[in-house]
Amino acid sequence: MNNQDLVTEIRQKIDIVDLISEYIPLIQKGKNYFGVCPFHNDTNPSMSVSREKQIYKCFSCGASGNVFTFLMDYDHIDFKEAIKILGEKAGVEVKGIKLNPKTTKFDRFYEMYDIANKYYQNNLNSKEGLLAKKYLSSRKIDDDLIKEFGIGLSLDKSNAVTTILTSKDYSMKEIEQFGLASNNHDIYINRIMFPLHDISGHIVGFSGRIYDDSDKNKYMNTKETIIFKKGECLYNYHIARDYCRKLKFVIIVEGFMDAIRLSQIGYKNVIALMGTAMTEEQIQLIKKLSNNVYLSLDGDEAGQRATLTNGEQLVKQGLNVKVIGLPHDKKEHDPDEYIIKYGKDSYTNLIESALNYSDFKINFLKIGVNFNSDLELSTYIDSVIKEVSTIKDEIRREIILKKLAIEVNLSYNTLEKRLNEYLEFQKVVNVEETAKPKVDVPKKKVSKYEKAAYFLIYGMVNDGQVIKLVEKEDVHFPTKELRYLASEICYYYHKYGSITMADFYTYLNDKEELLVVYNYIMSFQYNDEINYKAIDDYIGVIREYNLRQEIKRLSDLVKKENDPIEKAKIAEKIRLLKIGE
Ligand code: GTP
Ligand code: MN
Repeated sequence: MNNQDLVTEIRQKIDIVDLISEYIPLIQKGKNYFGVCPFHNDTNPSMSVSREKQIYKCFSCGASGNVFTFLMDYDHIDFKEAIKILGEKAGVEVKGIKLNPKTTKFDRFYEMYDIANKYYQNNLNSKEGLLAKKYLSSRKIDDDLIKEFGIGLSLDKSNAVTTILTSKDYSMKEIEQFGLASNNHDIYINRIMFPLHDISGHIVGFSGRIYDDSDKNKYMNTKETIIFKKGECLYNYHIARDYCRKLKFVIIVEGFMDAIRLSQIGYKNVIALMGTAMTEEQIQLIKKLSNNVYLSLDGDEAGQRATLTNGEQLVKQGLNVKVIGLPHDKKEHDPDEYIIKYGKDSYTNLIESALNYSDFKINFLKIGVNFNSDLELSTYIDSVIKEVSTIKDEIRREIILKKLAIEVNLSYNTLEKRLNEYLEFQKVVNVEETAKPKVDVPKKKVSKYEKAAYFLIYGMVNDGQVIKLVEKEDVHFPTKELRYLASEICYYYHKYGSITMADFYTYLNDKEELLVVYNYIMSFQYNDEINYKAIDDYIGVIREYNLRQEIKRLSDLVKKENDPIEKAKIAEKIRLLKIGE
């Protein structure tokens, strides 16, 4: 079986609606399904998925494709990896296909970090690692966890890693450039080393933790490099990805230790923020993990504040946010310490009794309010009602408002009146938001001829009859790209005996420029029915365009021509063209 047949078989066995629903919620409207496009920042359901055509397309950013391209773009994997994953899912043997590992220009530096990581890991098992090992054991990090998370140790030497790396032909400049040395010396001295990975699982840096009582910074991260951007890094993301998809939620913690602990007790769908404020890039990455987010940040004041700001941002993105509360009165302030002390079941109970973000916020608003001060009390009431107005569920709104009425000893009606004012305001805001143009990518104005050409191409990949018509009429597409694309479509059709939009995406996979053109064409809205009368008309439009171009070309020629006989000949040609001979 050749590759194309194999790929087509896999594609036919994996339904695109089923596949995409594993990643983003889809709602059926008529024949098609709609969801929030994961390929640009959005909260509107601008991505449509067609079961009939087995393709998706986003009307806002123009992304489109089949099951393979979806997986490739979503998980940042290459075509061959996508074939492997979907082949397994479809129960199709993919051994025949050659799966070359993807090479990138950064491979040399991924390898550099791998070498350093192996070295750090070995240190931990050497005599010099005894103290660090003892420290880890006191923190209940056992050998299994050390191995699983690739934890290591940098030695108390100023040229350990640099010596090893230079012996492997890395220049000092490279080692410094990638943050493992500075001024010809190791950067990491005597720290417990946590490797940091990018979303594909390459090591792209380290975080080193002190393990004695020194007054140095507790953690030290590798500086930002071309492959390591702190604002795009989330600890354990590459591992959590698959688990989040299966478990349908993600748990977000603050620190490495918390992530490692949760993973140990079976919550491998965990990622750590690494102590910084969440960035826009991180939010987009989180959105790809799941729509259901559990925030499990530290129980102290700072953790509560971080929960509030992060939760607010995630809710704005349309995610369902829950807050796992650690008891404030206990001294175990973070999930790691809590689990060590109270165990897995106890933490699972916390997950099960997690609060909706809005409930958490309302509780939070009450902290420290002096109910005897009219001003503080009314500010508090107002802020709660404002929060309630953002809740979609009417019943929940009423429950919270009833409780509030009792708590502050006011009539329900008074509170409800204020709520209605806020709800009115929300409506106005919502209307304004939906009234905003949804198209992010301004499409250039499309001429009549271009439209005709796009429609024909669309018809061709949907219906072999259109291909035959185009061939019979010998349609000359107006641009080189379109001619190339059309000839590839014809080639595909004759080679494989049929064509579908979904399969043609795969065929174009390694023809980058054509794929761009094809994607662009597919981003327009077309009637589902192929109408041969319309096809005829479009062929006519293209013919007329070509004719005009030819007349224009000859007219230019006439102007330049000096020889009167030649001039007359060309003029005659133009005349004949104009009268349609
Ligand atoms: P332990 O204190 O060992 O339990 O680690 P932790 O993971 O619980 O850390 P903590 O909650 O104190 O901080 C959360 C995260 O913030 C850490 O995992 C680090 O990523 C980051 N962080 C904490 N302290 C520092 C620091 O001194 N420098 C840097 N760059 N990051 C830090
Ligand atoms: Mn901790």
